[in-house]
Amino acid sequence: MDSPKKYYITTPIYYPSNKLHIGNSYTTVAADALARFKRLTGCRVWFLTGTDEHGRKIQLRAAEAGMEPLQFVDGIVEWIKELWRDLDISYDDFIRTTEPRHKEIVSKIFTRFYEQGDIYKGRYEGWYCIPCEAYWQERELVDGQCPDCGRKVELIAEEAYFFRMSRYADRLMKYIEEHPEFIQPVSRRNEMINNFLKPGLEDLCVSRTSFKWGIPVPFDPDHVIYVWLDALSNYISALGYGRDDSLFDLYWPADVHLIGKDILRFHTIYWPIFLMALDLPLPRTVFGHGWLLMQEGKMSKSKGNVIDPRALCSRYGSDAVRYFLLREIPFGQDGVYSQEALIKRINTDLANDLGNLVSRTLTMVERYYDGILPEPASTAATDEELKAIALETPGEMESLMDQLKINEALARLWKLVHRSNKYIDENLPWELARDQARRPRLGTVLYNLVESIRFISVLLQPFMPRTPARIWEQIGLSGMAEAQNWESLMQWGAIKPGTPVRRGDDLFPRLDLQAELKQGRSGGAASKTPAKTERQAEAEESTAGLITIDQFQQVDLRVAKILTAEAVPGTDRLLRLTVDLGALGRRQVVAGIARAYSPDELAGRLILFVANLKPAKLRGILSEGMLLAAKDEEGRLALATVDQNMAPGSKVS
Ligand code: ME8
Ligand code: MG
Repeated sequence: MDSPKKYYITTPIYYPSNKLHIGNSYTTVAADALARFKRLTGCRVWFLTGTDEHGRKIQLRAAEAGMEPLQFVDGIVEWIKELWRDLDISYDDFIRTTEPRHKEIVSKIFTRFYEQGDIYKGRYEGWYCIPCEAYWQERELVDGQCPDCGRKVELIAEEAYFFRMSRYADRLMKYIEEHPEFIQPVSRRNEMINNFLKPGLEDLCVSRTSFKWGIPVPFDPDHVIYVWLDALSNYISALGYGRDDSLFDLYWPADVHLIGKDILRFHTIYWPIFLMALDLPLPRTVFGHGWLLMQEGKMSKSKGNVIDPRALCSRYGSDAVRYFLLREIPFGQDGVYSQEALIKRINTDLANDLGNLVSRTLTMVERYYDGILPEPASTAATDEELKAIALETPGEMESLMDQLKINEALARLWKLVHRSNKYIDENLPWELARDQARRPRLGTVLYNLVESIRFISVLLQPFMPRTPARIWEQIGLSGMAEAQNWESLMQWGAIKPGTPVRRGDDLFPRLDLQAELKQGRSGGAASKTPAKTERQAEAEESTAGLITIDQFQQVDLRVAKILTAEAVPGTDRLLRLTVDLGALGRRQVVAGIARAYSPDELAGRLILFVANLKPAKLRGILSEGMLLAAKDEEGRLALATVDQNMAPGSKVS
């Protein structure tokens, strides 16, 4: 057997200067979905994330908080790790740049560059943007501000070390040209070439003396190493580069550095040049994804439009939040976050499409087969179509994930969800159930639906890690690893007839959009109110098409005796009746039954009656209840009644 392929994927290491928002979470959730998908297909995966803890910005933030920098970041790093736990992020390693294992390697790298002549000592005069931790030449500024973030820059003049970028510029240009998969999406590749490489690379200032919070230059400790040289090295220091090569040899070069488009220049120009200077191979792909925007523009703390991802998880569940992020944003482009869009995704894709598929199917297996999965027998054309789509899904998703088209991979999975729902509508199992001769067909249809649900559940794992286990519990596959893995999708039929299935709670109860939006405005995702009250949960269930016994019992159904009946003047449809409800007294009711019954044939009849309906006026006449009648397709009416004499007012349930 071939040894499994390796896959090394990284996220940016985030600045622990603040708690993270949903935008930072987006990068990490996307990386997690890719890592989990690769693990599912049998790859040996290493997934790295972490925090970028040095630099002037952190030093300033800690001072504001009246803390030592390390003490300050410790608290935020703890919070970030909890966020990743909430979002089910399956990282293999979390690197902090303040750890000795990282600092030692960065010192070594800096020394090597100096000894090789890549780094020399000189004098820096120019502009610095603190939020971006980036140096700029006067001519690069836009209206005197940072060209990246538009904020103010400060003038600095000091002795500093420089890296000779120009030494490697041609090699880098050639590499980028020969490796079209290196910078993605392609539009970003052209931007890097035209804006940075073509105009010529300036030597990069790689040390500072004006603050202390960083890794000291080993042979000149008044200087600290530039935070980007420090930070980018995390991708190799975490693998043990220069210390213990066992992990490094297995996983380097990285397969994907997943980042936001804001830091593409650091990853596609500086980082590859540092790697060239270390004689190391370059990462296969650097992917710069787009922004998660708010309707009013980019999310930022100063605008006060930041969404707290942990509050969203506790309100809607991490699987729903992950699904939204991965599905809503075309990977590589900008996307817009709104609570309304999130709730619509939950109600449409999760509650309606996926949730109803599972609940409808399992309800029928319970009803028609006492919850025991039937044996498939006959086959029809629609079966073959369903199977073909299911069997194609894993490969097509794999190819989309390899191209980092995460939202399209999810859309492809939903094609199978939609096809399965359509299969129910085509086969009308409840019709099949009426005819004993068509039982084998019914069994086949229900078997195929459950098997299709199994396919969906297995492929859902990388995106929504919690939901599949809930589905397996319902379709009797808990603990059966052989029916939950990638190999089990190579053929149709891994779930065994005879498996006991049991419909459980709805996977995704429908949310009341208006109520959620109102809640969002009055404190929003930041509030920690419990996800749902029992009443809300019940109301939601009714919109999903099913009601609880308690809900049914809210209807006060009674036997009523018709006392009088007369036509309502000016209409040929309505009759005015008075009915006797025993202990509940007499009621007047207006009913649309005049075309089916003449007044004189009604008096004395026993009918079924809703006794607790809110009174309403019809043609100016008070109607205090409702009688029940059946209506067929031709419009014929028949009053609902009891089949023995019963006392008026008797309860019906
Ligand atoms: O840049 N939409 O850290 P950082 C989508 N420490 N993604 C967003 C986003 C948004 N609105 N806002 C932020 C740094 N991001 C450096 C990285 S790596 C060696 C050092 C994501 O805390 C996006 O991936 O500012 C962006 O690149 C990252 O957060 C920046 O995180
Ligand atoms: Mg940033």
